[in-house]
Amino acid sequence: MAYTVQKLKDYSPAALDKAAEKLLAALEKEAAEVKTEPDGKAFRDRWVARKNGVLTQINDLWLKAAPKDAKREVGQRVNELMGRVETRVTEVELQCRDLAILKKAREAGLDARIDEARRALELSDRLDITLPGIPRPLGAEHPVIKTMNEIVSVFRNLGYSVQEGPVIETDYYNFEALNFPPNHPARDTQDTLFIANQEATPLRERLLLRTHTSPVQIRTMEKMKPPIRIVIPGKVHRNDPPDASHSPMFHQIEGLAVDTNITFGDLKGTLDHAMKALFGSNVKTSFRPSFFPFTEPSAEMMVTCFICGGGGKRGAEPCRPCKQTGWIEILGCGMVDPNVFEFVKDKGYDPKKISGFAFGMGADRVALLKYGVDDIQLFFQGDVRFLRQFA
Ligand code: PHE
Repeated sequence: MAYTVQKLKDYSPAALDKAAEKLLAALEKEAAEVKTEPDGKAFRDRWVARKNGVLTQINDLWLKAAPKDAKREVGQRVNELMGRVETRVTEVELQCRDLAILKKAREAGLDARIDEARRALELSDRLDITLPGIPRPLGAEHPVIKTMNEIVSVFRNLGYSVQEGPVIETDYYNFEALNFPPNHPARDTQDTLFIANQEATPLRERLLLRTHTSPVQIRTMEKMKPPIRIVIPGKVHRNDPPDASHSPMFHQIEGLAVDTNITFGDLKGTLDHAMKALFGSNVKTSFRPSFFPFTEPSAEMMVTCFICGGGGKRGAEPCRPCKQTGWIEILGCGMVDPNVFEFVKDKGYDPKKISGFAFGMGADRVALLKYGVDDIQLFFQGDVRFLRQFA
């Protein structure tokens, strides 16, 4: 039988306590029966609704009906009951809401995640803070970047500053302003990676992946007056199939010095010093004629093999890095062609007044030789078992 509020006949404290106890027992019994959100709402109405809720009833039937001398006793109890009923009703409602959320989550197939969160909570309760932590390995410089930084710092010590330029370049900066003739084979898609669908764009504006860092020579001269001494580290691309010594993406370090009276002697002295700083004071350098459209005269520089020391042999074995010649081809260089200065003449580069030298070397190749790696692909595959060796 459901609980109903009865009129009081006896206003003694003992009788009042008994009536209050009966009411609280009914509250607990009904609270336990609430399962859903609608149940919770009905529960609230039954107990605290202004119109005819149990609380309104005890106010009317117990307090208002009490004789004057019992009002204090009754008032106190009614007040306390009101507080307890309100609290319980709110608790029950919150419980229903949590259950409803849980039910919805279940329906949405979130069971697994809830269980996981529960387990994580349990685990975190059990966390033993006296155990040693999980070590997180620190990253390290990639061997190619490390090599580039070393080369750059050799030139910084000579007073060179660092410049950079975009990897996606225009034909103008990559070729035209560097004195490449219109039909030079490097401009062919065989050799250079062009951005697609640019047939309608004028040649000099067409976009490509720069094939060398030399375009940054022009970009820098456009914004800096002579004298300049700069090095340009960066990423370049060529349309080469990957193999042990080729990668369609690789790295170069370019150098450019422009001033009055710069001579080929300055070029040789600077590069000879740089090679000794990089590979050890024992290395020798040698130059042989070459050709680049943007330098005149042009040369290739060789250094004595720093693996075999120039003898071409490692013990009884032939030295592979230098193909037993004792020399390693390390970079291209030359005196800046006056035709190149013509493109930046109005920026203060009058070929009649100034001269300069430039050079460019492959950083990946230097790293391969330095670390005795036999496949350039290893540098770019991101295999930590390989990379960890350089950390
Ligand atoms: N840019 C040339 C290359 O990539 C190298 C070079 C740079 C040669 C500067 C001369 C002067 O092969």
